[in-house]
Amino acid sequence: MNTNAYEIVDHTYDVVVLGAGGAGLRATFGMALKGLRTACITKVFPTRSHTVAAQGGISAALGNMSEDDWRWHFFDTVKGADWLGDQDAIEYMCREAIPAVLELEHYGVPFSRTESGNIYQRPFGGMTTRYGEGPPAQRTAAAADRTGHAILHTLYQQSLRNDAEFFVEYFGLDLIMDEHGACRGVMAWNLDDGTIHRFRTNLVVIATGGYGRCYFSCTGAHTQTGDGNAMILRAGLPCEDMEFIQFHPTGIYGAGCLITEGVRGEGGYLTNSEGERFMERYAPSVKDLASRDVVSRAMTMEIRDGRGVGPDSDHIHLHIEHLDPEIIGERLPGISETARIFAGVDVTREAIPVLPTVHYNMGGVPTTYRGEVVKPVNGSAEEIQPGLMAIGEAACVSVHGANRLGSNSLLDLVVFGRAAAERAAELIEPGQQQPELPKDAGERALARFDSRRHASGTTTTAELRLEMQRTMQEHCAVFRTHELMTEGRERLSSIWAKNDDLRVNDRSLIWNSDLAETLEYDNLLAQSVVSLDSAINRTESRGGHAREDFPDRDDENWMKHTYVWLDDDGTTRIDYRPVHTNTMSNDVEPVPPKERVY
Ligand code: FUM
Repeated sequence: MNTNAYEIVDHTYDVVVLGAGGAGLRATFGMALKGLRTACITKVFPTRSHTVAAQGGISAALGNMSEDDWRWHFFDTVKGADWLGDQDAIEYMCREAIPAVLELEHYGVPFSRTESGNIYQRPFGGMTTRYGEGPPAQRTAAAADRTGHAILHTLYQQSLRNDAEFFVEYFGLDLIMDEHGACRGVMAWNLDDGTIHRFRTNLVVIATGGYGRCYFSCTGAHTQTGDGNAMILRAGLPCEDMEFIQFHPTGIYGAGCLITEGVRGEGGYLTNSEGERFMERYAPSVKDLASRDVVSRAMTMEIRDGRGVGPDSDHIHLHIEHLDPEIIGERLPGISETARIFAGVDVTREAIPVLPTVHYNMGGVPTTYRGEVVKPVNGSAEEIQPGLMAIGEAACVSVHGANRLGSNSLLDLVVFGRAAAERAAELIEPGQQQPELPKDAGERALARFDSRRHASGTTTTAELRLEMQRTMQEHCAVFRTHELMTEGRERLSSIWAKNDDLRVNDRSLIWNSDLAETLEYDNLLAQSVVSLDSAINRTESRGGHAREDFPDRDDENWMKHTYVWLDDDGTTRIDYRPVHTNTMSNDVEPVPPKERVY
C-alpha cells in the first residue's frame, strides 16, 4: 500500500462540524454566528440530509392548542425513556424547547398555523398533561407532515447567511487523535474529484446521525450509516446505550417508508385482522397514542397471535379513511403521497398496510448536555474528551434513555445543536492559534482507505451488507432472547471474518460508490457488533429493549448506562455509568421510577 500516492489538501478551521442534518446545521450556523471560522463537511448536499424526511413535528410546551407546561413534557420524557434518561439533561431539553421552537419560527420555519395565527400543534405518542393524569397534550409543532423539510431548509439558509463554509459530498474518514488522546482534526475524501483532505481544528463536532441501515428494513435514508459513531469506536472511545434501537410502529409494509405518528395524532388508529382497535387492550388510557415501544410490541404480538392482516397475516392496518379529506389534504399531504406511491393506497378510502420498522438509535456517542464528548474514568466518573463534541442522533446525552418519544428528536437536534455552539464559543477564541498536527496525522485513516480501495477478495460489499442487515433484522428486533441474539452474534462474527475477503471492483477515486459503500459497510458492521453485544449483556427489559427471557425492568441492577468499546478484532468490552436521577434545578421534581403504563 502506498499512502504517499495520495494528494492531500490541508485546511485549518476553528471548528469542523461533520454532518449537515438538523443538529449539524444548527451547530454550524450557531458557531459561525459567534465568529468562529466553521467548516461543515457533509457526504450529501445539506438539504438532502435525513432530517429532511422527519414528518410529524417538534415538541415544545407552547400551549397554543391546549393547556401545557414544560414540566409535564419533562415528566413524559422521563417516563417515555423508561427511567434510563438523565433527568438533568431532560430538564434542560424540555425547558429550552420553548425558546428553541420560537427561535425557529423567527428564523423562518413555515409552521402550520391555527385560526388565530399561532403555531399549530398536534398530539403525539406518550405526550400527556398533568404529569400523566390529564388528557393527551397537543405539544408537537408541525409544518403539515413535512416539518423536518421545513426546518432543514431554514437552518441551511441561516448557515449561508452567517458565512459558514461547506464541504459538500466529502466523506469523513476518521478522526485525527494526538498522542495525549485529544482530537485534533479529521480526514475526509472529496467524492467529486478524489482528493484527500486533512482538517486541522480545535474542535470536531460529530453530527452524522443514526445507524438505522444496520437493519434490512428501516425508515432512514440509505446514507444513515452512523459514520461518526464508527470513527469514535475506531479512535478507541466508547459508545453508549447501543442496545436501545427504536422501531417506529408505522413503517409502510414492504417498503419501510415512514408514516408519521402524526397520523394517529390527527385521529388515525390501528386494527388487526378482526377489525379490532387492539391498542385499547394494551394501553387503555391513551390507546394508539401510547409510546412507540409499547405500540410496536402490541402490533408484533397481534401478528404473532395470528391476527395480522393480509394474505400472510403479517402486518397491521392504519386507518384515516374516517377523517375529513380536507383535513388530510391540509395536515397530512406527505404521507398521502407516500402511501399512494409505496403502498398503492388512497388514504381517503383504504387502510395503510404498516409494520414496526427500525427508526431511531437512542444510543450513540456519550456527551454532556452541552455537547462535549465524555468517557468514563474509574468506573463511574466522567471526563471530558478534549477536542470532540457530538450532537443529534449520533449523540447519547442521554435524553431519550431506553425509548424516545416521537417529536423529541427534532427538538434534540436544535436544542443541543444550539448548546454546542454556545459551549464552543466559550472554549475557543476565533482564530485561536493551533499547534502543529502530529507528523503521522491521518496516516492510519489513509492506510485503511487505501486497503479498502484495493480490496481484492471474492465477496462483494453488497453480499456482506445484506447478510449483516438480515442478521440484525432477525436477531435483534422488537423482541429478543439470549438464544436468538447469541445466534445472531455468531452470524456477525462469521461476517466479520469475511472482512479480509472483501472485493472492491472500482479502484478509481472519483465518485467511487463501490468504495464509499464499503466504508459505510465497515461503519455499520462495527455498530451492529456493539449493539448486539450490549443487547445480549443487558439482562432486563426496558423501553425499546424487550427481552422475553427477562421480561421485567430491573432497576436494582440495570438503572445504568452501558458503555461499549470495540477492538480491532471485532471483540467488545463493556462498562457502565449511573443514570442521573437528579434534576438541574429546583424548578421541577425528579421523577422516581415506577411502573410504566399508558
Ligand atoms: O412519526 C413521526 O413523524 C416521527 C417523528 C419522530 O421520530 O420524532
